[in-house]
Amino acid sequence: MADDAAEIAPEPSKLGTREYWDQVYEREVGNFDERGDVGEVWFGMDAVESVVDWIQDDARLPKHLSVVDIGCGNGVSLVELARVGFKSLLGIDYSEPAIELARKVAAADELDIDYQVFDFINDDVSALQNDKNRFPFDLCIDKGTYDAISLAQNSASARAAYVRQVHALCSQAVKPRPPSDDDDENADEEEEDDDDDRRRKLSPRTTGLFIITSCNWTNDELKAAFASHFTTYAVIKYRVFEFGGKKGSSISTVIFAPKPPSEL
Ligand SMILES: C[S@@+](CC[C@H](N)C(=O)[O-])C[C@H]1O[C@@H](n2cnc3c(N)ncnc32)[C@H](O)[C@@H]1O
Repeated sequence: MADDAAEIAPEPSKLGTREYWDQVYEREVGNFDERGDVGEVWFGMDAVESVVDWIQDDARLPKHLSVVDIGCGNGVSLVELARVGFKSLLGIDYSEPAIELARKVAAADELDIDYQVFDFINDDVSALQNDKNRFPFDLCIDKGTYDAISLAQNSASARAAYVRQVHALCSQAVKPRPPSDDDDENADEEEEDDDDDRRRKLSPRTTGLFIITSCNWTNDELKAAFASHFTTYAVIKYRVFEFGGKKGSSISTVIFAPKPPSEL
């Protein structure tokens, strides 16, 4: 797997280094202090909203779930989840200025979001368990971080470590949600909602999901990269562009469910 991945890895670039992200976010902290600009929203607000819509409208995941944003940057994805009512939110990033910016952005909106400096490839994910007992997390999200890690010098080994880490972070959270009255209501709505096939394909009971959004990797490439530890749960469809006879959407979002440790 690591060897196959090495063959298709993009060329290493500065985006795969912590120094680059420190410089980006130091600048963005300055911009935020000066004029309240939250900085770059990677892949645009459409990508953020598509994931938040999927979580609350398609999957209808309950608001008490614990969520971790891996490589949160300015934390805008968590801000949007906080705005729709999620309460147990943690953002981690290896760049200290990113965490400083994310804290400032959340504080400006008086949102209760925790942030922690954390190197997702090299730090021990179980160390996150002391954070209000959130470990393992019900929902792990990533937008652009696996992409950045894929551009590191040691891309193949970093990607392999990433897969193991994210599995450890959410795998023990795979548990049946106790049935609730809402399930019957949801079932009725689903029957009425015949033309919404995105919704009909989802089981409403699973938590312990990993949602990854990428602009470097296609859906199929993401599925292949995570297949050792995850099964595909759903895919978010974006508008498809056609250019020069080639069709494709510019970003991919795949939702994965972790395999039980016995199946690895
Ligand atoms: C393209 S930015 C995306 C930021 C944010 N997720 C967003 O959507 O705006 C990539 C982020 O990954 C973070 N990152 C890269 N490698 C990391 C690592 N090993 N551990 C934690 N964060 C990392 C960077 O600091 C940066 O914030």
